[in-house]
Amino acid sequence: MRLDKYVAQALQITRSQARNLIAKGGVTVDGQVCKKADAALKGGEAVQAGGQTLGREAFVYIMLNKPMGVVSASTDKRDTTVVDLLQGAFPRRELFPAGRLDKTSTGFVLLTDDGAFAHDILSPRRHVPKTYRVRLDTPVTQAMAEAFAQGVTLADGQTMQPAQLIPDEADPLAATVVLRQGVYHQIKRMFGVLGAGVDELHRQAIGGLELDPALAPGQWRAITPQELERLAPGRKKG
Ligand code: URA
Repeated sequence: MRLDKYVAQALQITRSQARNLIAKGGVTVDGQVCKKADAALKGGEAVQAGGQTLGREAFVYIMLNKPMGVVSASTDKRDTTVVDLLQGAFPRRELFPAGRLDKTSTGFVLLTDDGAFAHDILSPRRHVPKTYRVRLDTPVTQAMAEAFAQGVTLADGQTMQPAQLIPDEADPLAATVVLRQGVYHQIKRMFGVLGAGVDELHRQAIGGLELDPALAPGQWRAITPQELERLAPGRKKG
C-alpha cells in the first residue's frame, strides 16, 4: 500500500492532508523520515505519523485469482506456486494459502500470514461456505442435487456434510456448488461417485466475499478490513 493512503486511513485524515504531513517530514518509516507520499509499504514496517505510532500492520490478507497449472503451496521444486505469483511483494512475511485449490482448479485463493485466521475459516465447525462454479462432462441432474443435499458418501466410505448443488439454467453442464468443509479433492470425488467428471472448477467466493472480477488469472490485491469482515463475519481481526 502507498504510504499516503496508509497514513490517511490510519489517522482518518484526507489523502491530501496525509501528503502534506509526509512532505513536511512528519512521517517516519522504520525510524527514518520518509517524504515520499508514493513510497510503497510492503507490510510489517513501523510507521509513525503526526506524533502517533501507527504500529505494524498486524497481518497481511491477499485475494488471488489462481490460474490453471499453479499449485496451492508456498514453495515447490517443480511448479509455480500461489506465493510465487506475489513476486516477492512481501519480503518480510511468510505467506501461505489458507485452503487449497487443485493444480487444475482456478479462482479465489486467500493468502495470509495469520495462522489463527486461516485455521478458523477452514474449520468445518465455523461453517464458512466456499462457492464454486463447476462444469461437468455430463449434464447436471436433479438426482445429483438431491445427493449433494443428503450428503454424498465417497468411494472410501466417508460421508460428506450436506452441500448445495444449484444447476445453471443456461448451461446444462454447469452448476454452482457450495461446500462448508474441505476434504481433499472433495468436489471431484463427490461427482465421481455420481458418475460425472469435473472438467472445470473455479472458486468464486469464500464466505460472503466474492473474487474481485477485475482480477485476471494470476493477479492479486490486498483484502480490505471491511472485506475481511464479510469473509468471516463476527471474527476479530489479528
Ligand atoms: N474440490 C476439488 O475437488 N478440487 C478443488 O480444487 C476444490 C474443491
